[in-house]
Amino acid sequence: MTDTAAGQVDHVLAEDRLFPPPASFAENAVVATQQQYDEMYARARDDRDAFWKEQALEHLHWFEPFGDVCQWDAPHAKWFVGGKTNASYNCLDRNIDQGRGDRAAIIWEGEPGDTRTLTYNELKSEVCKCAAALRQLGVQQGDVVSIYMPMTPELVIAMLACARIGAIHSVIFAGFSAESIADRNHDASAKLVITSDGLYRRGKVLPLKKTVDEALEKSPTVEKCLVLRRTGEKDTPMTKGRDVWWHDVVDSQSDDFPAEPLDSETTLFILYTSGSTGKPKGIRHTTAGYNLWAKRTFQWVFDHRDDDIYWCTADCGWITGHSYIVYGPLSAGATCLMYEGAPNYPAEDRFWDLVEKYKVTVLYTAPTAIRAFIKWGDEHVEKHDLSSLRLLGSVGEGINPEAWMWYHKKIGGEKCPIVDTWWQTETGGIMMSPLPAITATKPGSCTKPLPGVVPIIVDETGAPVGKEHGGMLCIDQPWPGMLRGVWGDEQRFIETYWSLVKGKYLTGDNARCDSDGYYWIMGRIDDVINVSGHRLSTIEVESALVSHESVCEAAVVGRPDDIKGQAIAAFVTVTDPNPGEELRQALRQHVRKQIGALAQPDDIRFTAAVPKTRSGKIMRRLLRDIAAGHEAVGDTSTLEDYTVLAKLREQDA
Ligand code: WT7
Repeated sequence: MTDTAAGQVDHVLAEDRLFPPPASFAENAVVATQQQYDEMYARARDDRDAFWKEQALEHLHWFEPFGDVCQWDAPHAKWFVGGKTNASYNCLDRNIDQGRGDRAAIIWEGEPGDTRTLTYNELKSEVCKCAAALRQLGVQQGDVVSIYMPMTPELVIAMLACARIGAIHSVIFAGFSAESIADRNHDASAKLVITSDGLYRRGKVLPLKKTVDEALEKSPTVEKCLVLRRTGEKDTPMTKGRDVWWHDVVDSQSDDFPAEPLDSETTLFILYTSGSTGKPKGIRHTTAGYNLWAKRTFQWVFDHRDDDIYWCTADCGWITGHSYIVYGPLSAGATCLMYEGAPNYPAEDRFWDLVEKYKVTVLYTAPTAIRAFIKWGDEHVEKHDLSSLRLLGSVGEGINPEAWMWYHKKIGGEKCPIVDTWWQTETGGIMMSPLPAITATKPGSCTKPLPGVVPIIVDETGAPVGKEHGGMLCIDQPWPGMLRGVWGDEQRFIETYWSLVKGKYLTGDNARCDSDGYYWIMGRIDDVINVSGHRLSTIEVESALVSHESVCEAAVVGRPDDIKGQAIAAFVTVTDPNPGEELRQALRQHVRKQIGALAQPDDIRFTAAVPKTRSGKIMRRLLRDIAAGHEAVGDTSTLEDYTVLAKLREQDA
């Protein structure tokens, strides 16, 4: 366990406030009683196949029935074996067949204030046109399509169009650099890229297509590029024979393109995430199991009701957007608000303006955003009528009790339950969360597992630890939404997730279960830092730094940050004997260019050497202490060169 994690534990365990669910909530709730949860949980655990068979038959459309419910040959799972379904069909056609065609699927607002509403009928037409265009551009079943787009309806349309024809989407968050896009295109052998001319961010335009062009110079597998006109940039470069405008090739297509019946285990998407080694992993999710997991967890946790206006503030470039903007809510026939821009544009009350304007009932956001709102001041919240809200969600990192209380009081008016949802890119959907009508919440705890999730906490030897003991969080049984692999890297899949305890999925998080059976997540075990709810590996940032000509060596650690959760601190040794502010700025720019703005170090400290163990491992624990402004404590007996530490301390003083 890391020192930082230990620090967090003390803090959260001092928390003993309990917030019972409002009594009125149980009326018409999706999961309304403790008994209902207990029964579902017990059945999913003890009679897994029967439970999930029922769920799959009731909640997905099947072109052809499945045979076995789950074939589990650890770590390989197949769910709903041999069945044929289609995620785009489940999100669109199925809702239309059930009479929800005229209901709003997406209510969208652009950053400049432009708005659009798409009903399920309209969304389906657009998806069909895009699917037909992709086919015409040569995209076949199994081909990978990279999507690098602003949060416009077309981003969702592009994802569902891929799903409709059995192409695999790989959404790349539009804040990533050309290098990052090229790496992902290369790793996935992407055949086509979908992007836009530009993206609005705080009133400025970022030229996305130019960044994509830079990436395409290093992406030999990419044959075509489909470009949406969003910002109307005049000088958008278009390469003849490769680049085509969305309005030229999509708009003229037929609005009826039948969804391809796809085998349950057809790859639906890959999504790259950071691990403890430098290279991002393409997490692979498949069609039926993922779709069912996203849908049911959405309905259970957000207690989805017909008249909800649901808003998840994530970007589709992350798993939260995949599961809780697209596949979960749309399969459930929900009406989703989607917002394109920054929370503080044109002013710090933009989110609350949106909640009031669209009468949002369920809001799902991240602790890093909540901390920013606290800092910006309550006056921005108090300007608006937030009384439409009935349920609040949080995701991405642990929510500290102070932020939880503020969210509860200022946003929820002390009447809305808060669901603190713990999960990962790899899990496909929420694993642990309160259920709003039945779970009494404790600020800072993600409470209990959902049906189908069997958590266990183990020590370094893989032996289970008892209640009230910290340890590594594993998951004991397969669940439908679990990752099926790491794209093109079976070895890494096995080593990362399955080598600690045989047949049990290793999450990479530390956790503790209290005497009431509530889970508390205590941060990461590995060298992964969580910046604003997004995972970055220290080695990724180190590699970017070292690729700069004047850097010899770099060590990167996270340090606590009030807004971002963790900020990035980098210790670098350089060739320049008198490094200064100019080089510091150049290095920040360099990392930004290599990975993206998210990864820019907040602190860069020049040092004569990086402290290492005798075996040559960077002593991260010490660096973390120094970065956090603490005196380095603990065991330094294996430190290779004591003077390094002394020098770093001097510099600090
Ligand atoms: C890691 C997964 C899940 C979608 C967004 C992030 C941390 C996530 C919580 C929470 C404490 C949390 C974990 C996890 N995390 N949610 N409610 N409480 N920690 O997805 O990028 O795959 O990151 O985020 O450390 O392992 P991701």
